[in-house]
Amino acid sequence: MLPGDGIGPEIVAETEKVLNRINEQFDLGLQFDHGLVGGAAIDETGEPLPGKTLERAKKSDAILLGAVGGPKWDNLEMAKRPEKGLLGLRSNLELFANLRPAILYPQLASASSLKPEVVSGLDIMIVRELTGGIYFGQPRGVRTLEGGELQGFNTYVYSESEVRRIGRVAFEAARQRDGKLCSVDKANVLEVTAMWREIMDDLAKDYPDVELSHMYVDNAAMQLVRAPKQFDVIVTGNMFGDILSDEAAMLTGSIGMLPSASLNSEKQGMYEPCHGSAPDIAGQGIANPLATILSGAMMLRYSLGEEKAAGAIEAAVSRVLDQGLRTADIMSDGMQQVSTREMGDAVLAAL
Ligand code: NAD
Ligand code: IPM
Ligand code: MN
Repeated sequence: MLPGDGIGPEIVAETEKVLNRINEQFDLGLQFDHGLVGGAAIDETGEPLPGKTLERAKKSDAILLGAVGGPKWDNLEMAKRPEKGLLGLRSNLELFANLRPAILYPQLASASSLKPEVVSGLDIMIVRELTGGIYFGQPRGVRTLEGGELQGFNTYVYSESEVRRIGRVAFEAARQRDGKLCSVDKANVLEVTAMWREIMDDLAKDYPDVELSHMYVDNAAMQLVRAPKQFDVIVTGNMFGDILSDEAAMLTGSIGMLPSASLNSEKQGMYEPCHGSAPDIAGQGIANPLATILSGAMMLRYSLGEEKAAGAIEAAVSRVLDQGLRTADIMSDGMQQVSTREMGDAVLAAL
């Protein structure tokens, strides 16, 4: 358990309550341990990812993370910022496959910013490459040119093996779902993504049961709000996936509803909500804990093989929404507004 910063500790506390209950109910024998990451770790140790945290994370079957970052640490140099703690966990554990399911609970149709008929029944899986691309490419930095002008630079790079392994995860996911995969790139401008497209086409030969299509990222951003239900599985690189998943989150009513799983090839995983530390509402007890609680369900499913326990959490969340309980971000007319803790308690009661 790595609660992190801002609303991180608030939403992880609720998730821990839920996981403790599930642990008893299903007799799972899970053991939890806690560690420091992000700004909380910087304040204690001076580093966003202390060696002890990384060692413990490596020895765990799964990691549940809240969120990192906040204004307090925004002026630190890039390598020492809280976000590096998160990126360091992803790269050190080789968590290359990030699954971000955007599912609209029918009870939240009116909380979505789109018309109910456009979003009802929405169920998209975004498969985001998480340990490569422009986030990790070298060289990177800011340099001073002759004459004194500054120049900032990053490198957008993917190797064939990186594209193949994320492609396979996405094809497998599509195979388990509606059999449709849309690969999102900028192949009309960027060579790295033109290569990405060719590799996806090549992989498609191994998955004749999956219908592969390609879309440029600008169009994909538009299509997601025009007609989101055309998508089943989306596969894309690190940065495009970051942006499109926040966009998709809003279709489900709130970014506070979007969970995620980040997996390596051993299915060891880190689980976290897609949102950040929400400094604007931290400490007020009003954050939506459901994205984190649902990330706990994904943890049971993907890393621990406890499908029944995962389903029990998801059913409990659905029941709580049926009861009309809403945190502020998903509040609508006639519903009952609850705090972070009350939402966690309601999920427990539903369990
Ligand atoms: P954010 O996701 O933290 O917040 C964006 C908006 O969504 C805010 O208005 C916030 O109040 C709201 N929001 C987010 N989660 C919510 C929840 N559970 N319930 C209700 N409302 C919620 O994004 P930001 O403001 O761009 O970033 C804030 C900090 O978080 C930055 O330091 C950023 O680097 C960091 N961040 C961390 C992660 C992560 O740890 N995985 C992800 C994104 C951003
Ligand atoms: C996310 C976040 C992170 C990312 C940041 C905090 C490094 O936005 O998990 O989506 O960009 O991957
Ligand atoms: Mn993000």
